[in-house]
Amino acid sequence: MKLLHTSLVCLLTATQGAECSQASKHSFAKKCEGLASTLERQLQNTKVNFTDFVAAGTNLTAPSTHETCAAFDSALDFDLCRVKLYKSTSEKSGITLETWLPADWSGRFLSVGNGGLGGCISYTDIAYAAARGFAAVGTNNGHDGNTGLPFYKNREVLEDFAYRALHTGVVVGKEITKAFYGKKHTKSYYLGCSTGGRQGFKEAHDFPNDFDGIIAGAPAFDFGNLQAWSGRFYSITGTPGSPTFLTSDLWALVVKDVLKQCDGLDGHLDGIIEDPDLCQYRPESLICGKKQTKNCLTGTQARVVRDVFSPLYHATGTMLYPRLQPGANSTASLWSGTPFQYSVDWWRYVIYNDPSWGPELTLDDIEVAKKVDTFGINTWNGNLSKLRDRGSKILHYHGLEDPVITSDNSARYYNHVSRTMGLRSEELDNFYRYFRISGMSHCGGGTGAFNIGNSQVDLAGEEPEGNVLSAMVQWVEEGIAPDYVLGTSFTDASKSKVAFERKHCKYPLRNMYKGSGDPNATESWQCV
Ligand SMILES: *[C@@H]1O[C@H](CO)[C@@H](O)[C@H](O)[C@H]1NC(C)=O
Ligand SMILES: *[C@@H]1O[C@H](CO)[C@@H](O)[C@H](O)[C@H]1NC(C)=O
Ligand SMILES: *[C@@H]1O[C@H](CO)[C@@H](O)[C@H](O)[C@H]1NC(C)=O
Ligand SMILES: *[C@@H]1O[C@H](CO)[C@@H](O)[C@H](O)[C@H]1NC(C)=O
Ligand SMILES: *[C@@H]1O[C@H](CO)[C@@H](O)[C@H](O)[C@H]1NC(C)=O
Repeated sequence: MKLLHTSLVCLLTATQGAECSQASKHSFAKKCEGLASTLERQLQNTKVNFTDFVAAGTNLTAPSTHETCAAFDSALDFDLCRVKLYKSTSEKSGITLETWLPADWSGRFLSVGNGGLGGCISYTDIAYAAARGFAAVGTNNGHDGNTGLPFYKNREVLEDFAYRALHTGVVVGKEITKAFYGKKHTKSYYLGCSTGGRQGFKEAHDFPNDFDGIIAGAPAFDFGNLQAWSGRFYSITGTPGSPTFLTSDLWALVVKDVLKQCDGLDGHLDGIIEDPDLCQYRPESLICGKKQTKNCLTGTQARVVRDVFSPLYHATGTMLYPRLQPGANSTASLWSGTPFQYSVDWWRYVIYNDPSWGPELTLDDIEVAKKVDTFGINTWNGNLSKLRDRGSKILHYHGLEDPVITSDNSARYYNHVSRTMGLRSEELDNFYRYFRISGMSHCGGGTGAFNIGNSQVDLAGEEPEGNVLSAMVQWVEEGIAPDYVLGTSFTDASKSKVAFERKHCKYPLRNMYKGSGDPNATESWQCV
């Protein structure tokens, strides 16, 4: 199954050639322009900003809406009708929504998600889906900008962020799709990572009728505890110069030492850990001792490294959030000795309503947070029976080098669902599959075979085997479920040459080198 359309199909007949193509383009463009008044009539509490025909070959730009939101700027190779509108969700809040309606519509609908505390429309994901024939929607999640400031004294904006913006976008997006094409979509899909991963699971539980297939990566679920966990690194490492602090050179040493201790546990030394669950990293091996003074750790620093790779516990001993998986390389973010901005924003603008709070996070602050109503944002319900009963599917993935959200938490959720529903993996397989992507960082990038088609930048091919979006369509529409996800690593950024491929296993299976054969060939590995 291939989703990508390489040429514009004539909407009228396929035999009239270029002339027909021009005529159909013209009528498509007219239909698009006429859509605005139809929507103004049909949709409530809505202001249509524009409905614009965008011809294939256009270099489309969408300006940045906030300093933390990237501008979109890309040449598109398909005709589409682009809809932008504003819909209020309460008297004090609303969403900005984009819907891209491709001329070469496959009949499918897809919603994308958001990232961080965003606030930013995921244009690249919308473009990725629309180029593959989906009527694609995305919202600004109820506020502009990847920041928590808009939550300050406006709970309506927080409610949008927790669940309402995405769900509203789906409801409105489906209406727009129907109004434009004159018929209802066939199947409905979701694609998101990080905050988008959390949104996917929120939908799975709260609005199980929204999607037939959900692709959720590196989910920011158990959201409150995640904010606590992320915020705590600053307290553990201290600031540059303090006895607890490790410079980026020392962290590089630690990251290497983790590989020294754990890379071989999958049977092959390649700088990629296939199963961090097997790794119990021991930082004491780097302690300076009596003679060494350089390239080593003090006892205090070794404790810091241990704390970084340990779960976050409540004062009472309950585990709040699992450890950062060894294999993460986070010199640029969590370990940098600067406060984690999302966590700071969370306590400032949501928990305390005090812009001067922080930035040091204590267990007491974490306790206070538990008492604040955040509209079910935590997203930790393990009962997905409504979704299962209607036949929808979830493809969950997480990079095993993720330095922002630990992949240990994804396995924790999968096991939570297993216990809550009383189902074994063979039974969960019918509707929920989790794949651990070795060598993938946060939602993409990394040192391994991370290209799995979860986004345009991480695209390796269109076939279901190596493309999670195609795999999901095949699962939903043909009943063929993925048993693994084929990842590709390229030798360079232009992707001109494949370095190696790896078949990422379905949890709880782990990938092991067979002990002989070319380690770059997928056949030399097995899921055990
Ligand atoms: C869209 O319309 C809304 C409501 O009138 C307005 O607040 C917003 O600025 C408009 N957005 C754009 C991009 O024009
Ligand atoms: C699109 O236009 C922008 C701004 O003029 C330019 O920087 C960019 O390189 C163009 N992109 C393509 C793919 O042509
Ligand atoms: C870790 O990240 C740093 C900074 O990006 C990079 O220089 C280094 O090569 C990485 N280490 C590994 C083992 O990937
Ligand atoms: C799960 O949810 C379904 C539907 O709401 C309900 O009937 C069932 O009792 C729940 N199961 C558990 C274990 O809570
Ligand atoms: C496997 O791929 C890596 C990365 O391209 C390369 O460095 C290595 O030489 C390859 N190994 C074999 C046995 O081909």
